[in-house]
Amino acid sequence: MNNPILFKEEKQYILQQKKLAEIMNMNYSNLELLFRAHMKNDDELFHELAMQIIKDEERKNHHLLAAKLKQILDDPPSKNEYSRLSNSLRKNIPPIPRDNEKGFPLLEVNKYHYNWDDLIVKKETEEILHEITVENQERHLLSSYGLKPKNKILFCGPPGTGKTLTAKIISSEIGYPLITVKFESVVSSYLGETSTNLKKIFDYIEKGRWVVLFDEFDIIGKKRDDPTEHGEIKRVVNNFMLMLENFRGDSILIASTNHPHILDSGVWRRFDEVVSFELPDTKCRNFIFHKKFSTFWKEPGIDLTRFALETEGFSGSDIEQVTVRAIKHTLIDKRQYITHEDLSNSVDRQKRIITAREA
Ligand SMILES: Nc1ncnc2c1ncn2[C@@H]1O[C@H](COP(=O)(O)OP(=O)(O)O)[C@@H](O)[C@H]1O
Ligand SMILES: [Mg+2]
Repeated sequence: MNNPILFKEEKQYILQQKKLAEIMNMNYSNLELLFRAHMKNDDELFHELAMQIIKDEERKNHHLLAAKLKQILDDPPSKNEYSRLSNSLRKNIPPIPRDNEKGFPLLEVNKYHYNWDDLIVKKETEEILHEITVENQERHLLSSYGLKPKNKILFCGPPGTGKTLTAKIISSEIGYPLITVKFESVVSSYLGETSTNLKKIFDYIEKGRWVVLFDEFDIIGKKRDDPTEHGEIKRVVNNFMLMLENFRGDSILIASTNHPHILDSGVWRRFDEVVSFELPDTKCRNFIFHKKFSTFWKEPGIDLTRFALETEGFSGSDIEQVTVRAIKHTLIDKRQYITHEDLSNSVDRQKRIITAREA
């Protein structure tokens, strides 16, 4: 006999399943794959499917949802240096070295999912960066002819021009996790401890294949202006350079600085390539504005080119702050569109911030 209650429950179950699949705009096999990827810690597959969902949502004009999902994938690392890593990577990486004196971690290991579309720079800069990446991807081909890819790179340029972002992109493109070396922890107040810290870092790097970012490594350079620190810091720079020169692994080592002029001329020679990052010109600013607003509704007729013209001297990071501020304002006001006024106010506010910063 037909059981009406079971029938009703079954019907409800099927409806729920359909709704779930509809909400996610996925077919059942994709949904199943996503779950399986998560359970098997298959980070690659999980991200591939996740990116698929984001693209589907964008196609359906669900820009807010797409942006939110992308943000979840790209969330900045939390205080725990292991937190962003998939379980499989977490199990495979050696314990993070720490400073003897204060016990601070000397580096962070993260995995990112950026691509070249996220970076807007001059064509020449883009070409050099692609060349570095492709050489490292074709490492085996080069080595069969006795050649080595460029893997000791110096990034110079003003703050907020995309140096850290580029390291994240290279790491994403090549598929090696990104190690970020925290120079504040490395430069220890105890004499001699700094070199010990550097040795610990290089020992760690030798244990795997990574993209390593010695971020804002000018903290060393800055301290060279201080006569009391001079001897020690000079020794640290020399030590770092020696370790860099002796490094033979397959990892890509990137040092970044906002103040190239304070580095010894000897420093430059030790790198295979020096990449200069500049403040974006009007064309690049225009691209950055469009890129940052690509997943958000704008008031019809809003003229981003005009804002690109008005923001001479802004870095990529300044433009990012302008757009985030304007978007937040729009969301809090429960409006659907970003207006010319939102953007104009946010640009003015950023101009004041820049003036205060440069004073
Ligand atoms: N050239 C650029 N193209 C696109 N976005 C950029 C660019 N430069 C900076 N940004 C934005 O500003 C943020 C901060 O930039 P970042 O890479 O940390 O600068 P830097 O390391 O040179 O100080 C980036 O995450 C990105 O959102
Ligand atoms: Mg940086």
